[in-house]
Amino acid sequence: MKKLTAIVAVTLLSAGFGSSVSAGGQVTNVSDWNTGEGEQSVAMKLTPDRENGIEVYEVCSACHLLEGWGMTNGTFPQLAGQHKNVLIKQLADIRALNRDNPTMYPFALPESIGDEQAIADVTDYIAKLPMNPNNGKGAGDNLAHGEKLYKENCVQCHGEIGEGSQEKFYPKIQGQHYAYMLRQFEWIRDGKRRNANPDMVKQIAGFSDDDMKAVIDYTSRIPVPKEDVAPVGWMNPDYN
Ligand code: HEC
Ligand code: HEC
Repeated sequence: MKKLTAIVAVTLLSAGFGSSVSAGGQVTNVSDWNTGEGEQSVAMKLTPDRENGIEVYEVCSACHLLEGWGMTNGTFPQLAGQHKNVLIKQLADIRALNRDNPTMYPFALPESIGDEQAIADVTDYIAKLPMNPNNGKGAGDNLAHGEKLYKENCVQCHGEIGEGSQEKFYPKIQGQHYAYMLRQFEWIRDGKRRNANPDMVKQIAGFSDDDMKAVIDYTSRIPVPKEDVAPVGWMNPDYN
């Protein structure tokens, strides 16, 4: 593991950490947010191999950590427990430069991890990991307003408790880190996350920065169902 992390750090430096990778074509058509084309539809049909999933995930763990819990400061999102279809879509979008992620891009490429089979293997593995019992939360100072906004603007897609939808590719947002969600929400609102769902963009277009903080703070505090959460201090037994 130490060796891998070092390789990642070195490659990051030489890849110009933080610089932006020039993006592919703009997503302009409303239905373009989820065409299902390319690697996504291929990966969804493959039977996952758990052993290879564990091997591939070791690359990812350099940033998303071995438990898949990401970082409370929001630099790296939690991946553990996310819907498999959502993970496949986001990974395929990142590889196809349909979602900008210059930090992760070089490590997500076929040269680094393999083809669609690797996508199927690693996403199946990640989706089954138990979730972080201590995700990052907001200031907690405007939760009633946040709850009202959530109920009126988010439930129809992300569900009553932020559970999302595997079938519809709506991300699970319960248990996700506040700072990560705040960044994504702002990017979606301001048109910077190019693979965003256009109906969400419309729904949140009128949100002020205070509305945004309130609703994300509320979201970050929605309790995750007990059966999906790891015990405090859990360490991933698949690596040692
Ligand atoms: C060098 C660090 C790094 C590595 C290695 C890395 N990622 Fe990421 N990943 C990130 C960052 C940073 C983000 C969030 C980007 C943003 O804020 O838009 C991210 C986001 C994601 C997302 C989107 C999550 C969401 O909720 O939409 C997925 C899925 C993902 N990574 C999967 C993987 C997988 C699978 C691997 C291994 C093959 C991997 N990552 C390796 C840094 C990394
Ligand atoms: C019309 C359906 C819809 C509505 C309404 C909606 N969202 Fe979303 N949201 C989505 C979809 C779909 C994505 C993933 C888009 C993609 O594939 O890039 C997403 C992504 C997100 C993300 C990023 C998740 C991640 O893992 O990167 C956050 C945070 C989020 N939504 C929060 C909210 C909140 C809070 C509200 C209400 C104020 C809301 N959304 C309303 C459909 C919706």
